[in-house]
Amino acid sequence: MKFKDQTAVVTGGARGIGAAIAEAFAAEGADIAIVNYGMEEECAEVCRALTEKYSVKAAAYQCDVSDFEAVKTVCGEIKKDFGTVNILVNNAGITKDNLTPMMSEKDYDAVVDVDMKGVFNMIRHCYGFFIRNKSGAIINISSVSGIMGNPGQINYSAAKAGVIAITKTVARELAPRGVTVNAIAPGFIQTDMTKDIGSGGEELKKTIPVGHMGSPKDVAEAAVFLAGARYITGEVLRVDGGIAM
Ligand code: NAI
Repeated sequence: MKFKDQTAVVTGGARGIGAAIAEAFAAEGADIAIVNYGMEEECAEVCRALTEKYSVKAAAYQCDVSDFEAVKTVCGEIKKDFGTVNILVNNAGITKDNLTPMMSEKDYDAVVDVDMKGVFNMIRHCYGFFIRNKSGAIINISSVSGIMGNPGQINYSAAKAGVIAITKTVARELAPRGVTVNAIAPGFIQTDMTKDIGSGGEELKKTIPVGHMGSPKDVAEAAVFLAGARYITGEVLRVDGGIAM
């Protein structure tokens, strides 16, 4: 049990990669706080399953990570309920794809607000926990789109590249305090976010060196590894079947 008596906060933990990450940390003994916007029933079910299967404490908080004040309030509630935060996984994300000439200002802002500013908001309001504990790990879920760019994803690629810059900045700030900060850049992972790939899927698989999409568990294993690796910080770990090599 690598993380017994520790608290892991996972944003967007109601389903997909976030739910797999929450489970992977619970399996290592961590108590879990899920921060999610909407999907209340899914959140409750994830918490119930984690408590039952791993005998850890698990609670869900409704919060839009792009809302600075709402994140501040929720981090206060987590402090009250769990005492502190040892591991923060910034996973919540959305896509609103379109080629650049068709991209609306609204869709551009929405994705940057959730996918990049949301990471800032969570780190900003959890920072004190890490400073006080003089230990811990922050893991930000970026994307290969933030490394390579991707047609139709000007908003998402910009946000995910920003997440890498946030990761390196905070890694430098917190390294002297014993806190590691790393990013994971997944490639194509089978979740609701990628379910619309549909018939294009076969063509897509040809572009992936290992020949198939990844699973949320592949990303979760990387998150657990990074949270336990004390001499790795400011790194961007690709979990992409080789796409961005
Ligand atoms: P998903 O759509 O299945 O799950 C996203 C979760 O985030 C949901 O629980 C949703 O309710 C929550 N969420 C959305 N907006 C939120 C907000 N404003 N505040 C709080 N929670 C919010 O997505 P998936 O595939 O599990 O993706 C998770 C992360 O991994 C995202 O950051 C995504 O960009 C990233 N990623 C996913 C890839 C994939 O192929 N699925 C590839 C590369 C990165």
